[in-house]
Order: sequence, then C-alpha cells, then structure tokens
Amino acid sequence: MAKVYVFDHPLIQHKLTYIRDKNTGTKEFRELVDEVATLMMFEITREMSLKEVMVETPVASAKAKVISGKKLAIIPILRAGIGMVDGILNLIPAAKVGHVGLYRDPQTLKPVEYYVKLPSDVHERELILVDPMLATGGSAIAAVDSLKTRGAKNIKFMCLIAAPEGVEEMKKAHPDVDIYIAGLDEKLSEQGYIIPGLGDAGDRLFGTK
Ligand code: URA
Repeated sequence: MAKVYVFDHPLIQHKLTYIRDKNTGTKEFRELVDEVATLMMFEITREMSLKEVMVETPVASAKAKVISGKKLAIIPILRAGIGMVDGILNLIPAAKVGHVGLYRDPQTLKPVEYYVKLPSDVHERELILVDPMLATGGSAIAAVDSLKTRGAKNIKFMCLIAAPEGVEEMKKAHPDVDIYIAGLDEKLSEQGYIIPGLGDAGDRLFGTK
C-alpha cells in the first residue's frame, strides 16, 4: 500500500502559508514554490542509499560515503509541475527531466495525454513525478499510467497541497506510488478546487488568468 508523507518541517509549513496567501504576487509565489520543492526534496532524499568509498584528505585516507543506487528523473505534469523542477534541481543538478502534458476533455472530463517526453532509460530510474496540486487525482493517476506504460517501475509523487479525495483515488489506482505532501487540506469544491488550497497553481506561477 502506498505510504503518504505530510512534511511538517517548520520551514516548509511557514513558506506554504505565504504560498497560500492570495496577496502573494507572482514573483514571490514562484520563489516560494521553488524553495518548498527544495526542502521537500531534501526530506525525500533522506531515504537514499549510500555506499562507502575511500577519499584522500590533506591529512590521511578516510572511509567516506557517497550516494549510490538508482539515478533520478524529475517528471513535471504540465504546466504547473514546471514550477517545482528548479527547486529539485538545486539539490540534484544531474537529474534528468521528462515531461507529461495532460488536458481535461471538456465532454468526458477525463485527462487526455497530449505530450510525453521521457529519458530513454526511464525504466532504470527513480522518478519523482511533480504537480503542485493533487485535487481529484485524475491527472496524477493518468500521468503515472503514462509513465508505467513506458516502462517506469519506481515512481514517487510529490505535491504541495492535496485534497483527501485525491489522495484516496491515487492510493487505490497506484498502491506502489508513495505520496509526499506539504499540506493535506480539507476537501474539494464542486468546481474541483482544493479548499482552502491556494487557487489555481498554474495561473499563480505564470501570472495568467
Ligand atoms: N489545480 C489547481 O491549480 N488548484 C486547485 O485547487 C485544484 C487543482
């Protein structure tokens, strides 16, 4: 069963408050999303495996540790997921970046894939799928479907804010995908907005309406 982690680190919670604030403008919103993505990634990387190596210090030989195990790829769901990429790259600059683009069909209301570009060795990498908002779960579930169809085996999902409804749907659809959240909110509105949430993440990141 998927594990769900809600990061209660004071810095993450503090910055998330200003991200939520409707008076926070585009520039500051972007910077804060970037910073929270870095802090969340710092928490996620706690689980990375290490291997022992020898290093020559100016004084002596020493046993030391470096990160081992699977290489990472970051996969933003277009378009709002893009806002979380640089923050993660601050910590893992060598990570590859793939993209999944989905839109919602106005008739069926189901997500439709319109763009997918992934690293060729996606089946060997640990993937961090990112989208600031986990609302109904429709996009995240479809994005994971799309990654798995292309051979991905090891996926984590990271978002800023989630609705309980979306978390439940995601856990049901993809029990192998752990979910990392900064804020677990109350519920979804009838229009599919997370309450209290932060509004439309894409519009606030890119200054559109
Ligand atoms: N997507 C958003 O950007 N905001 C929400 O509240 C829900 C989905």
